[in-house]
Amino acid sequence: MKRKKISIIGAGFVGATAAHWAATKELGDVVLVDILEGIPQGKALDLFEASPIEGFDAKVTGSNGYEETRDSDIVIITSGVPRKPGMSREDLLEINKKIIESVVDQVVARSPQAVLIAVTNPLDTMTYLTFKRSKFPKQRVIGMAGILDTARYKAFIAMELGISVEDIQALLLGGHGDEMVPLPRYTTISGIPLSHFLPKEKIDRLVERTRKGGGEIVNLLKTGSAFYAPSAAAIQMTEAILKDKKRILPCCVYLDGEYGLRDLCFGVPVKLGGGGIESIIELDLTEEEKKLVTRSAESVKKSILELKLS
Ligand code: APR
Repeated sequence: MKRKKISIIGAGFVGATAAHWAATKELGDVVLVDILEGIPQGKALDLFEASPIEGFDAKVTGSNGYEETRDSDIVIITSGVPRKPGMSREDLLEINKKIIESVVDQVVARSPQAVLIAVTNPLDTMTYLTFKRSKFPKQRVIGMAGILDTARYKAFIAMELGISVEDIQALLLGGHGDEMVPLPRYTTISGIPLSHFLPKEKIDRLVERTRKGGGEIVNLLKTGSAFYAPSAAAIQMTEAILKDKKRILPCCVYLDGEYGLRDLCFGVPVKLGGGGIESIIELDLTEEEKKLVTRSAESVKKSILELKLS
């Protein structure tokens, strides 16, 4: 039986931290790829040199090419550039579009059976691009956003109530942007509805903070964006797939009529297992929740149109 292989494209903050989580959890051998010479090799060697200390058994290698990624089980794509001052959203989209297209072509040629996990922003749009470009079945192209956004929401609830994060169950729908849709109606603490603990105004404030969660980190860091939680989320997805855990998690997936939405990638709860997306769970939503989902979907659709794929 062969060891699983996880390739991570982009050895920046998110990619390198994902490699760290994956190796320490012994999910498989890890290959880091980046265009910067020496960076993936150096980070991979450094991480491997930590293994005798931490006692994890995983091969970690770095490369500027794709041969080492051959026959990967999972490929996590984090390559891209962040938005710089003076750069419009469209400029960013155009640059990251070119990066993702070339990365997907190289990956797919060598790992036609892999599950692809998209992480690069704008997330829903880049997941859609990855899906279209790879021509993979929709079950095997998944965007990482919902787990991260839900984790932020749970973290804020735990901080507000002074309770353990372990006892919070929550769910979130929609695009990975300010219009995401946290669902307080589906949020419980050890089965007790959130509304038992907090008044509506407080919950609304936590929801608002969740929507702006990415920006909060950017403002604090000044340069760069969040990487611990985003990489942890990508590795939770990786683990669910490699161990065929059949977990129920919010992920960004291609919709073909579910939730009344078609031809876009959007955050919804799914069953994640060995086959990738094994099913999409459709929730009964209130009129108000439906309105929020529609608003979020419209903004994702607009960004997808800007890709000018057809
Ligand atoms: N092929 C491989 N790697 C590339 C390519 C390419 N064509 N183009 C850029 N990269 C690499 C960069 O060299 C850099 O090392 O992608 C890496 C991105 O790393 P960071 O700039 O540190 O960005 P990071 O914080 O890791 O975020 C990566 O994840 O959460 C999202 O918004 C975030 O889109 C961003 C992505």
